[in-house]
Amino acid sequence: MCGIVGMVGREDVVAEVVAGLQALEYRGYDSAGVAVVESGEEIRRVRAAGKLKRLVQELQQQPLSGTCAIGHTRWATHGRPTDDNAHPHVSSSGEVALVHNGIIENFLELRERLAKAGHEIRTDTDTEVLAHLIEHHLERAGHGGKGSSLLEAVQAALKEVVGVHSLAVVSRSEPDTIVASTNGPPNLIGIGDDGLRMVASDLAPIVRHARRVHFLEEGETALVRGEDVEIHGSNGRVEREPRVVDMNPVQAEKGGYKHFMLKEMHEQPRVLEEVLVGRLQPGTGEVNLDDTGLPHEILENCERVLVLACGTSLHAGMVARHLIERLAGIPCQVEIASEFRYAEPVVPKNTLALAITQSGETADTIAAMREAAERGAKLLVNCNVLGSAATRIADGTLHMRAGLEIGVASTKCFTAELACLTLLAMKLGQVHGRLSAERSAELAEGLRSLPRLVEEVLSHGDAIDAIARDTMKADNYLFLGRGLLHPIALEGALKLKEISYIHAEGYAAGEMKHGPIALIDENMPIVGLCLESPTRDKVMANLQEAKAREGRLLAVVTEGDERLTEFADHVIELPPVDEMLAPVVASIPLQFLAYHVGVRRGCDVDQPRNLAKSVTVE
Ligand code: G6P
Repeated sequence: MCGIVGMVGREDVVAEVVAGLQALEYRGYDSAGVAVVESGEEIRRVRAAGKLKRLVQELQQQPLSGTCAIGHTRWATHGRPTDDNAHPHVSSSGEVALVHNGIIENFLELRERLAKAGHEIRTDTDTEVLAHLIEHHLERAGHGGKGSSLLEAVQAALKEVVGVHSLAVVSRSEPDTIVASTNGPPNLIGIGDDGLRMVASDLAPIVRHARRVHFLEEGETALVRGEDVEIHGSNGRVEREPRVVDMNPVQAEKGGYKHFMLKEMHEQPRVLEEVLVGRLQPGTGEVNLDDTGLPHEILENCERVLVLACGTSLHAGMVARHLIERLAGIPCQVEIASEFRYAEPVVPKNTLALAITQSGETADTIAAMREAAERGAKLLVNCNVLGSAATRIADGTLHMRAGLEIGVASTKCFTAELACLTLLAMKLGQVHGRLSAERSAELAEGLRSLPRLVEEVLSHGDAIDAIARDTMKADNYLFLGRGLLHPIALEGALKLKEISYIHAEGYAAGEMKHGPIALIDENMPIVGLCLESPTRDKVMANLQEAKAREGRLLAVVTEGDERLTEFADHVIELPPVDEMLAPVVASIPLQFLAYHVGVRRGCDVDQPRNLAKSVTVE
């Protein structure tokens, strides 16, 4: 949530900061701004409400240049998305400018105190207060001492702040310096080979210029001065080598596709191949998850699995519950992370908490992981970003290997999660002697065929545009599925809501008669997931009931199954697939449906209103 970029050490870094903001725009996009420190003179800034392109236009009118700059793309928490509320914020005298990701909970109290002390507060934001507070500490310390006054002032200010925050701060008196900090939300320092140093909320802007990266830990501040980078923890300076990251900058481009979402949907076959590399023994179907780093005895001793996740990852977790219970016979409970953290949960001994998080930065998921660990659970995280906060606190990481996902509505990471979680369920089944060699080999074969099956479904994706054309004006959609496909119905509804702003509900098909059936009329499209499974005939009966109420039925069936053809308005056929792997294949047409409806309705499918890709505040 909110993207921070800072750069220092090149002739003119403003264009690079803006390019960095473009790479981060998926984190928030209601307003944006840049500030530069003009050597020994003043801090100048340009800000604009709306998408980043408005800032770019403003910068053409009022160009900025300098060797040290910070920028921000905002997802509003306090104060509406206006030009004035956009970051960077500056202190009263113009000495300090900063960008912030997070929420300052005690900002009203700080604001009152600083206003009384003569600071002129100009906006409704919690962030502006921080700029004044840092200036206040700079004034108290006086300038010109040894070391960095700015670093000390930031550290002193942060001691007074309650809330979550990551910051990049510059000051007029230290023109080649950026101070960065975090007490939770991600903040990274990139070390470019050519003297360029970067601060950013995630890897996307950094990998354009650097592979060596420091991931700031909770409570750390960093002094980035010219080429020097110092990291400070609560007990003084921290010596730590940067990590070398392996992420391809090309992934941040659309590669000829109209939208990142479409590009990422088409990347799914490759990602599904990648997930399996080195994790499936040829022939036997034996699963090897050594790369997770999770000690084997944790899997051996596991008596319960507790899934913790939010959003799309939560739906993957709901599929995982079926997989783990059915393949490994281990009870599995799925919890919404934001609920779990405050629920005083009972965590029995030998619980493996399985967090699922694409970003590894979702505040609620991380808090839930901590809560579970405090109550004795071991932590495994299924995550796409190595080095993220979730991977740092977990006992093991099942890496999604999906590459950078930019589209706010998750697609390739969802199917990567499903494939990873199938491997985990198989592994638990094998370790606990519940999964026969024969069934293992069958599932392994099924997993290996997924890239081909998904490719086949992707090749028919454009045909779904005809269904989109026919149903795009509906105000409500219903998605129905059972068993492993119930979470896919939830995910199909979420995807449609997110990117087309149509109200949609996912429901367990058997539960439809207990409420949603009252909503059905001739205007209501009903997407029925009716693939090969022991409950297929039950789902079919549920869909017939819906059709009898005049609903417009879009049936997703197994190739060759003609039983719904005569009464469905549209039929989408999918290749036959093992029931356990059907969630992956069934997700694809629902992604296309949401995509085509969103595009037809003129929505910004990559950056839907009000959403952000990484939700780093509660
Ligand atoms: C946001 C995103 C969703 C994502 C959810 C959880 O709501 O818009 O696409 O599923 O956060 O994110 P995570 O990174 O924890 O998987």
